[in-house]
Formats: sequence, structure tokens, C-alpha cells
Amino acid sequence: MESELSPFLFGRTVSNLGFTNREQDLDKLYKNLTQGINTMLISPRRWGKSSLVEKMILELRRKNPEIKVVNLDLFSVSTEEEFLEMFAREIIKASSSVWQEWIQSAKDFFKQLTPILTVGIDPINDFSLGFDWNQLKKHRSEILELPEKLAIDKKCRFVVCLDEFQNLATFKDFEFLEKSMRAIWQRQKSVTYCLYGSKRHMMTDIFNNPSKPFYRFGDIMLLQKIKREKWISFIIESFAKTKKEISPNLAELIPTLMQDHSWYVQQLAHYTWQKTKRKATKMEVQMAFSELIEANSPLYLREVEGLSLTQLNFLKAIAKKEEKLSSMEILLKYRLGTSANVVKNKSILLKADLIDEFDGKLSFLDPAFEYWFLRQYFKQEKTI
Ligand SMILES: Nc1ncnc2c1ncn2[C@@H]1O[C@H](COP(=O)(O)OP(=O)(O)OP(=O)(O)O)[C@@H](O)[C@H]1O
Ligand SMILES: [Mg+2]
Repeated sequence: MESELSPFLFGRTVSNLGFTNREQDLDKLYKNLTQGINTMLISPRRWGKSSLVEKMILELRRKNPEIKVVNLDLFSVSTEEEFLEMFAREIIKASSSVWQEWIQSAKDFFKQLTPILTVGIDPINDFSLGFDWNQLKKHRSEILELPEKLAIDKKCRFVVCLDEFQNLATFKDFEFLEKSMRAIWQRQKSVTYCLYGSKRHMMTDIFNNPSKPFYRFGDIMLLQKIKREKWISFIIESFAKTKKEISPNLAELIPTLMQDHSWYVQQLAHYTWQKTKRKATKMEVQMAFSELIEANSPLYLREVEGLSLTQLNFLKAIAKKEEKLSSMEILLKYRLGTSANVVKNKSILLKADLIDEFDGKLSFLDPAFEYWFLRQYFKQEKTI
């Protein structure tokens, strides 16, 4: 009994077990990518982008095995060179299941570039391509063109998914790479791109700025939260599946407390489930809630440590639901600095995704961070 798997998963992507709802998003993404529409997927952190794309890929592989799928996470890639090498390697690997063909492709498809190939004893996991950086800078187009060339040669299509795409924008001379990617990728007929990432402001700046190359590259999907009713039935069913029980009221309390935020709903549901012997009680939800805040507090501490004093004060005013932030009274009460400080701090906090603006109103983007913040700075405990 003790070792039963939790029906609630967090901390990694969910694509099979633990995945719920998102039927329409899944359908739209699937159709776009199989019909050749490049798609950009944007949402705040941990709402479920990577999970959705993984789920879509599972379906794509099952229903359309002739389409080659490449899924790269650019989170830990820190230079353009690294990116191009990884891109080339993974495209080549996806193009065939026979590793001898990878070597052939690497020999055939580069004209200006001379790849340095390494193949280990276990080629599937130990195959890499290296390039000379000076050559690469001049001929990066050869790498960016690779999927289309391979697709034509192998008479197949590619879907290329790049997670944390905005990370590329932190590279030195990103503008060159950006221009070449856009110019080359938009002409490709057999390759469709799914570009997604969490830094909403960076992503929007890349894709929704008329003066940038990637403007109108494809369809932009702004991923929304999963609906409360869906969470409620998911929680009730998941308890039932593991021979436990939760009342509809308590099952509703979980997504309500967590404002339907995917990660936190799963985390709170998991802690509650873990504490529940047979039927969940309010006490258990309360304890689970405290545990969640506790578990995440190192993260929140780090978050506030990176803030200036006026930014911190700005957050305090928002936590207290103040609206007229530039009024003299509020400026003084919360020590927000000058009204120019307010304007600047607002933009910084929005960019950092700490706050959100909706209908002209500012609020915390992360519900659990807000609970923690109120406890930390105002001794306000949330009782449920
Ligand atoms: N469709 C879903 N059904 C149930 N839970 C989900 C779903 N999507 C996401 N989650 C929950 O949210 C968590 C975060 O999901 P995921 O990593 O896919 O989000 P993300 O938007 O890619 O996050 P990040 O911004 O950190 O890259 C998952 O670990 C899971 O607990
Ligand atoms: Mg992700």
C-alpha cells in the first residue's frame, strides 16, 4: 500500500500518466504541425507547455510514423555553436534509424562545413558532430538548411520542436542567427517548427514585434490554464482510482487555492493524497497547503533576494491590493521611490513574470508565491 504510485505528478513533464484535459490545445497543436503551420506556444512558467508538446509528439509518432520528430530543450545550451551542433546531430539522428546512414548524411550534406564525427561503441547514444567555430559562423545556413535537405532526400517530413527557445536570444550576436533562422526556415516546405518557451516577454518580443525577423512566422498559441471543473473531476477520479476518496468540496478547494496553476494543483493534490488514509479531510488539505508553501520557500527567498528595495516594496503594495501606485499617499506609505521608479519597477517585475497585468490591474502571477509573501512580510497566514 505504502509504495503505491501517486496519481498526481509534478516536477517533470506529464504526457501520459497524470496528463489531463487540454483536448482542444492538443488538437490544435497537432493539426497545425501536421498541416505545416509553424506554431509558437507561450505561457507563464509551469502551466504545461512542455507536457502538451510531449503529449502531442506521442500522438504524432503513433499516428504519423512517417513524420520525423525532433524535440530539443535549449534550456542548458549556452552558445550558438552548441546549439548548431546539437541541432545538426539531432536532425541527422532523427532522419534514420540506421546509424551508418547518419555518417553518410554527415558526409553528404555539408558542402562548406567539415564536420568532425565521433561515433562510440554505442552509436545510438554516442554520436556527435563537431565543427570549427570560424567555419560555422560563416556557414551556419548549412546547418539550418539540413532538415529540409534531409527531408527531400529521404522523402519524409520533419516536425522540429524547440523548448525554451528564448534562451537563444541570450547568445552573443543573436541577431545574425535570428535572421538566418527566419530566412531559411520560412522557405522550408517539408519542415514545420514548434517554438516554445516560458519567458513570456522574451518570447513575445521575438515573435510579436513587427521590427523583428520572426514576426508572423506562424501561429501564436497563448496557452491558458486548465479549467477548474476539469481539475475537480481529475482530482476526484484520481483519488478514486487509488481507492481513496475526496469530497467535491475539497476537490474544488485545491484548484481554487492554487488558481488552477497546473504545477501547484498537482503538488497540493499530491500532498493531500499522501496524507489521506481513506477519505480526505479539510485538516489534511490545510496541512498539505502548509507543506507546499514550505517546500517552495527556498525558491521564493531566492526570488526576493534578487529584487531591489523599491521593487520589493512595490510587491508589498500589490500584495496589499493597492491600486493607485503612483499616488503620493501610496508612494510614501510603501516607500516606492519616485513615480518614475514605479513605472520602471512595474516593467521590470512584469518582465520577470512576477506580476501580471489584467484589465489594468496588477496581481501576483504565482499564487503560492503570493501566500508565502503575505506570510513572510505581513505575518498573514492563509487559513482555509
Ligand atoms: N495537462 C496537464 N495535466 C495535468 N497536469 C499538468 C498538465 N500540464 C502540466 N501539468 C503539471 O504542471 C507541471 C508543469 O508542467 P510543464 O513542465 O509541462 O510546464 P511548462 O509550461 O513547460 O513549465 P516551464 O515553464 O517550467 O518549462 C507538470 O509537472 C504537471 O505537474
Ligand atoms: Mg517547459
